[in-house]
Amino acid sequence: MSNQIHGAQHFDKSKRLEIKFSEDVMQIAQSIISRYPQGKQKSALLPILHLAQAEFGGWLSPETMDYVASILKIKSIEVFEVASFYSMFNLKPMGKCILEICQTSSCWLNGAEDIVKYIEKKLNIKVGETTEDGMFSIKVVECLGSCGTSPMLQCGASYHENLTFAKVDTLIENYKSESKRKSYTDLDYKNTL
Ligand code: FES
Repeated sequence: MSNQIHGAQHFDKSKRLEIKFSEDVMQIAQSIISRYPQGKQKSALLPILHLAQAEFGGWLSPETMDYVASILKIKSIEVFEVASFYSMFNLKPMGKCILEICQTSSCWLNGAEDIVKYIEKKLNIKVGETTEDGMFSIKVVECLGSCGTSPMLQCGASYHENLTFAKVDTLIENYKSESKRKSYTDLDYKNTL
């Protein structure tokens, strides 16, 4: 399943979104920015990027990053530098459910590689790709702070720990059956930021 094919479908959808916060969301953004001293609005970059990603289709397009830069009065390259550093930000369209599998020491020692291979085979995609139906993407990420319950993966706000192949089967089936949900990347930042 080529990510490019799926990506093109999602790109078209996202392009229809106007890259501008609604009044409500802009108020949240302004409240976040106001936590920092005058002239230091760049410090609000991470929460504003989360907000933008949740608002504009679950990923940060160049247009979205330009928009964030304009709000914070910084250069677009400064936004890109941060957005491309952290694995929680997506620089291309993703599936509704992003399976982020930890590959760091504890998880790796406890079979993360096999879990990745198992999920790749089960979903018929590779790491970095998205299923044709737009439901799942696979990512590998660094330590998610749940080393004592490795191997583990994160999907949206949920951690799935002590993974086995059987647990992977169950969680994938559960996500499929909840597929009416808008997106697992749409964390409720409006209430938490
Ligand atoms: S090594 Fe996987 S959560 Fe820490």
